[in-house]
Amino acid sequence: MRAVAISELGATPVPTNLPVPEPGPGEALVRVIAAGLNPMDWKIADGLLKDSVPYHFPLILGQDGAGVVDAVGEDAAFPVGEQVFGRFFGVPRGLGTYAEYTIAAPDDAVLPMPEGMLYTQAATLPTPGMTAVAIADAAEVEAGRTVLVVGATGGVGQPVVRLASRRGATVIATARPDMAGRMRELGAAETVDHGEDELNDQIREHRPDGVDVIIDLVSDRAAAERLAALLRPGGVYASTTWALNPDALEAQDIRGVNIDYTPTPDLLRRVVELAAEGDLEIGVEEEIPLEEAPAAIARSRAGGARGKTVIRP
Ligand SMILES: NC(=O)c1ccc[n+]([C@@H]2O[C@H](COP(=O)([O-])OP(=O)(O)OC[C@H]3O[C@@H](n4cnc5c(N)ncnc54)[C@H](OP(=O)(O)O)[C@@H]3O)[C@@H](O)[C@H]2O)c1
Repeated sequence: MRAVAISELGATPVPTNLPVPEPGPGEALVRVIAAGLNPMDWKIADGLLKDSVPYHFPLILGQDGAGVVDAVGEDAAFPVGEQVFGRFFGVPRGLGTYAEYTIAAPDDAVLPMPEGMLYTQAATLPTPGMTAVAIADAAEVEAGRTVLVVGATGGVGQPVVRLASRRGATVIATARPDMAGRMRELGAAETVDHGEDELNDQIREHRPDGVDVIIDLVSDRAAAERLAALLRPGGVYASTTWALNPDALEAQDIRGVNIDYTPTPDLLRRVVELAAEGDLEIGVEEEIPLEEAPAAIARSRAGGARGKTVIRP
């Protein structure tokens, strides 16, 4: 089968031929029809999980995907022919979703596809959707709160903006001018252009009292320390990039949360329900063939995402 894989940590991903994996007990072989690209994929290729998970090379990249069950091992959770989607975690076996086939294992957050859901949408939902729900819960986003979303225009940011606004929060989204309209469509009350003046100055100008919650998908430690000054006492700062020092924030009466969640079928089910209600939405920026995945990874590394890249093996 064709797959996009790396030969060692830090290697450039390349399209290659690899054997179709065989499903073991409890597993299903899935013919991948759409795979979602996440920054996590190239971070894993760079070694993000090397201290916590064994790596197997060649390592096929990709965790999010949707497809059709093609063969099953004994006691598999899905029958042959079932359409499934979710977050597949194959790093210890070198498996991923940037391939014609992958394996759904019992520990994966994989579900049957809801009726009417398209493969493209199914491939975009797992990691961004589950992260958005986990972060909105952790940050206690609710009606009456003012929430600044930093990195709002990307894969996780878009569902966060929609979810927070549907929960009744007043959302301020960072966006370059080309994405300001999209942020308002998703429910942002205001946008601030992070390519212009200091965010702190722009926000203080209209909101001298600051904000209740910051959801930050991009900042490093130094940038997060600056932004924390925007939070009111008792505020919450949540980061997906592990930029926070919760002890230092606590001294400023701010609760800091570096987001770490376990992808589960139950969490993915919540994402499906929220998407069906229109409470969570993720835009697709581009659909590309498998052979173009290395170039798409390079673009993701360079930044500037406007939604999801979906790979069609
Ligand atoms: N901890 C976890 O469990 C977890 C889970 C999922 C994702 N993550 C991490 O969360 C991060 C975001 O993921 P993603 O999928 O949303 O990434 P993405 O799709 O690449 O989007 C990033 C967005 O941030 C914007 N951006 C870049 N620099 C910015 C800045 N200084 N201020 C405001 N916006 C800025 C980019 O637009 P411009 O370039 O136009 O500014 C882009 O739209 C990644 O680092 C990912 O690895 C962590």
